[in-house]
Amino acid sequence: MKETSSLTAYVNNGFVPLEKAMVHIEDRGFQFADGVYEVVACFGGAYLDLQPHLQRLQRSCDAVNIPLPKPMSELEDLVQQAYAKNPFKDAMVYIQVTRGVAARSHVVQTTMTPTLVITVRNLPKPSDDKLKTGVKGITLQDIRWKHCEIKSIALLASVMGKQEAAKRGADEAFWLDEQGHVLEGCATNIFAVIDGVLVTHPLDHQVLGGITRDMAIQAAQNAGIEVQERAWKLDELGLTECLMSSTTNAVMPITAMNDAAVGRGIPGEMGLKLRALMLLKLDDLRAGVKSS
Ligand SMILES: Cc1ncc(COP(=O)(O)O)c(C=O)c1O
Repeated sequence: MKETSSLTAYVNNGFVPLEKAMVHIEDRGFQFADGVYEVVACFGGAYLDLQPHLQRLQRSCDAVNIPLPKPMSELEDLVQQAYAKNPFKDAMVYIQVTRGVAARSHVVQTTMTPTLVITVRNLPKPSDDKLKTGVKGITLQDIRWKHCEIKSIALLASVMGKQEAAKRGADEAFWLDEQGHVLEGCATNIFAVIDGVLVTHPLDHQVLGGITRDMAIQAAQNAGIEVQERAWKLDELGLTECLMSSTTNAVMPITAMNDAAVGRGIPGEMGLKLRALMLLKLDDLRAGVKSS
């Protein structure tokens, strides 16, 4: 891991060494989790779906009535500068916007200047072991709020879910609705392969519209795989595979759920195919940077 002393963050109108990057204790992000965020991956200088990530940031800001702190083009430029100022080839760029700083009061009293923070870290990639064996999941009753389509920084439920997963030797916790339908993970979307069809929960208030979810659906459809966006359960007849998707995972096979094997308990054909197709796209991205 790189020393944090060599890292640079953007905080409210300027780049500063990460260790000096501070926000006020009365920032509403700290006081109320009153903010939204984005995580975008950059491969050797080429961004994976930067525009869709920035558009989702705009949608999240609109949904909670926080003005976008900079015009889109400036935000894009700041993301690029942040990447360039940090020492990682493949990086994860984190953008956080909060409503800003004010004396603590639930009701917003004044016109506020939003806080904008951008940090860059190495892009974590699934280990070789995980690629071979697939990941383990657990399921939990969804205890989150009713606006999961907003990429809110209020992630306490997700932190609790991830901690429970780690405690039980699993990699991710997946939320179930009251009827037992599988919604999404703490930081991933989830798909099942049922009778050869790729199935995932439709986009509504219970799931985040993952940019990688879209990418996986697109890759599947281009490869002639049928995709259904519908509610589904783990015990459906014909379920042979589960997969999770996110910016940092692309697509990963889930081979166990609550300590029981999913399908044959090994990464399945569809998961491996989709993962390979998505990695090809990443290779194209990298190659595009080299040749330009
Ligand atoms: C709740 C939730 N669902 C899904 C995802 C995956 O989204 P993306 O593919 O845009 O990374 C995330 C990512 O952080 C998430 O937090």
